[in-house]
Parts: sequence; C-alpha cells; structure tokens
Amino acid sequence: MTMIDIAKVFLGVLLPALIGGLLYHFVWKPAPSAPAPDPDPSVPKRTFSDPIHCAEILAGNSFNNIGNRLHRLESRAIPNERLVRAFGINNAFTTTNGDYARAFKAAAVKKIKMEDSDWERIAAFAQRPVLESVANSKSDHLDANLDSLVQSIALKLALHVLFGLDPFELDKDAIRRLAEGINNCWVYSKSSTMNAAENLGITKVTVNDALTKLFPDTDSSSSEDNPLNFILPAYETLWRNVLLCFIEVSFRQNRQAETIVWRKVLETFLRNPTQASFEKSVTTEAGQSVSVSHLVSEGLRLYPPTRRIYRMYQLGDSSCIPEILAADIEKMQRDPQNWEDPLAFKPSRWLNINEKAQNAFMPFGNNPFICPARKEFGPRMIGILVAALACHINPEGLELWKNRSGDAESTLGNDEEIFTDRDMYEHWWLQKKRS
Ligand code: HEM
Repeated sequence: MTMIDIAKVFLGVLLPALIGGLLYHFVWKPAPSAPAPDPDPSVPKRTFSDPIHCAEILAGNSFNNIGNRLHRLESRAIPNERLVRAFGINNAFTTTNGDYARAFKAAAVKKIKMEDSDWERIAAFAQRPVLESVANSKSDHLDANLDSLVQSIALKLALHVLFGLDPFELDKDAIRRLAEGINNCWVYSKSSTMNAAENLGITKVTVNDALTKLFPDTDSSSSEDNPLNFILPAYETLWRNVLLCFIEVSFRQNRQAETIVWRKVLETFLRNPTQASFEKSVTTEAGQSVSVSHLVSEGLRLYPPTRRIYRMYQLGDSSCIPEILAADIEKMQRDPQNWEDPLAFKPSRWLNINEKAQNAFMPFGNNPFICPARKEFGPRMIGILVAALACHINPEGLELWKNRSGDAESTLGNDEEIFTDRDMYEHWWLQKKRS
C-alpha cells in the first residue's frame, strides 16, 4: 500500500468515522436522563395533606402548575431506592423503565384475579391457623403474640395467592423469619445510624435464607426474580391493617353491642365470601346498617397501610434543587375538615359518604399509579382475614395487652389512640381476664 492509498483510506473511511463519532458524542447523543438524586435526609421535603395537593403529588407530573423535570417513573422510583438497597427488589415501585413497570403491573393483575371458588379456598385457609392457635392456647394465653399470628396468616395467604404455594406445607420457621425479617429490614432501612446499617446487613441474610427455603428453585439474589417484588406490596399492606381493624372490631370494650353485630356480619361473609356478600348491608334490631365493606373501608381510612407516599420533584428550570413532596394519606384521612369525628372507628359513616370525604380517601394511591388490588382483591382479602380472626377469637373474657416500645405492658384503653409508627409497639397479645 502506497502513502497515497493510506491517505485515501484515511480521508474516505477513517476521517468520516472519526468526525461522525465526535458529532454523535457531543451533538446528537440524547442527553442522559438526570442522575438519580439520592433521597437522603438532606434532600428538602415538603408534606401536604389536602386532597388536591395529595392527588397532584401522586400524579408526579407537576405541582402548583409548575412542571416536574423528572419523568413520573423517576419521580416515584427515586424515593423508593431505599427499598432496592434493603430488599434487592426491582418492581413497578422501583423501576424507571416503562415497559418493565407495565409488565410488572400486568403480572400483578393476573396473580390477584380470583374466581368465587378461589375465595372459598382462601376463606378456609385463613381460618385454619386461627383455629389451631385457639386450640393450642395455654390456659391463660391465647397466643403469645397476636402480631406474629396475623403476620404468619397474611404471609402464608400472600404466598398462596401470588405463587400457588400450599400454606400448610410451608416451613413454619422460614415463614416466621421472613415475616420478622421484612419488618426489621423496613425499620433499619429508614435509619441512618451505623448500628442500623449493621443490623440491616444481618437481617438481609436471614431474609435471604428464608427465601431460599421457601423458593428453592428461584434465584432470589436476582433483583428481577426476587419473590419479594410481589410479596412486599401484598403482604406488607395487609397484615398491619388487618391487625388494627380486628382490634377495633373486637377489643373496644365500650362498643360491645356493635361488636356483636359486626361479628355476625363477618360470620355471614366468611361462610359465603362473594363480592355481593362483602357489600351486603345488614340492618340490626336497633336499626343500624353495616356491611363488611363498611368495616374494611373504615379500617383503611383510620389505618392506611401506606401512610405517606413520596415523589421526587424538580420544579422549574434545571438549576432548581430536587425535593421530595410527600402526600400524607393518614393525616388526610383523619382530617376533621374532611371527616366528622375523625379518630373514631365508625363503619356507619360509609352508608352516606359525601364527595368531600370520598376525595379524601386514598389508601390505594391515585392515578396514574393506582393499586390494581383496590377494587376487589385488597378489600375482600382484608375482610376475610379480619373475619377469620373476629369469628374464632371470642373477645369475651379476654384482655388485649400491648407492649409499647420503651414502656411498661398495659391493656388497651377504650378510647386510647393506637399509634401507627411501625416500631411503636413491640407486641400485642391476648390474655384471659383474671377475675
Ligand atoms: C390492602 C392491600 C393493598 C393496599 C392498601 C395497597 C396500596 C397501594 C398503594 C398506596 C399504591 C400506590 C403507590 C404509589 O403511588 O407509589 C399501590 C400500587 C400498587 N399496588 Fe397495591 N396495595 C395493596 C395490595 C396489593 C396487592 C395484593 C398487589 C399485588 C401484588 C398490589 C400491587 C400493586 C402494584 C403493582 C402497584 C403499582 C401500580 C402502578 O404502577 O400503576 N397491591 N398499592
């Protein structure tokens, strides 16, 4: 090859390629999406609890008519990065990939689609552990731990619905470790102390061991195959709400007359767990009407499983500092401006719910990320679990005890507020009244 040939190759092929490469890099290449700001506590945060702002925050697009520079998937995923670190998951809540989010939601919809015969099986499954627990109870204790009873039933049912596992074949120890581990990971991942980071590391190992026992053929270390992708949205939302709804239904001593009626309605539903029976109001001799749907809605109003929902916003131009906007669902659902006597558990309010209250009720989020379990699966599942507990645990002769973190043990007062911070109580348990 002569020098002239080399020059021809350089000018004809290499030079255009080089120029093209430089142009692509500096001119045509699409701008990379904004690096994910770290949602650490130093990120500014504003919290709102009125229905209009909450709905606007959840949509992720704009706030007070100023556009969000972040895409709404980024807006949701960034505050959830903590979940990725704590649980190694990759699901609709944590992804910025639209196709992946859509596919995940479609898979969730498929998993929670139930026929009447499925509901009958679920109702039977939910009752068995409660009956076993009552039968095995020692003379003065029903169960050492009401919260662990509820956790284990909710987790077993979630595994059955989501993965078709037989709830009675499951390794009991793995269930207990998984339920406890999920809760502890959640608590530790919120704290930024060295101690919490160390504890998180240890708890993650326990959670992974339990997952390997329950899912021997699944590689739980792969974020896309991690069973927690589905377990977390289903189980975590259910158990705490079921526990508190059951307590309200059965263990407020000043409402014994209502408790009897509520238990009757729940019994009827448990025998025939259809949607029609879930919604059917029963009128008592005293002229009160109530349905399981009213009981569940009131439980979700007072104890929304997702108390606050966060989005990352960058409002204005690119120089504006990203900030977290929080929709305080719990506060909105207890705000006297929206609800009469807001701290009272009053299922009858759902007989005539006005538009103002309806707009201030978002336990399943709001568009565009509204929960696919909102219409049937979530409420009916809560109804079945509360019914299984309330129908087989007779509150007569029993006292409900609690151990508030850092406090002495005590029974629950009639009008005592139940605090909803995750680590507020160590345990709840039932004990026979001493005469
Ligand atoms: C009582 C039970 C439940 C409650 C209270 C609940 C609550 C919520 C809330 C508040 C959101 C919105 C989150 C946000 O905007 O960031 C949501 C979304 C979602 N939930 Fe649920 N959930 C429940 C049960 C379930 C179950 C059983 C599944 C099935 C695995 C599920 C799957 C999902 C999915 C996939 C989304 C995201 C939807 C989207 O991206 O458009 N949820 N849920």
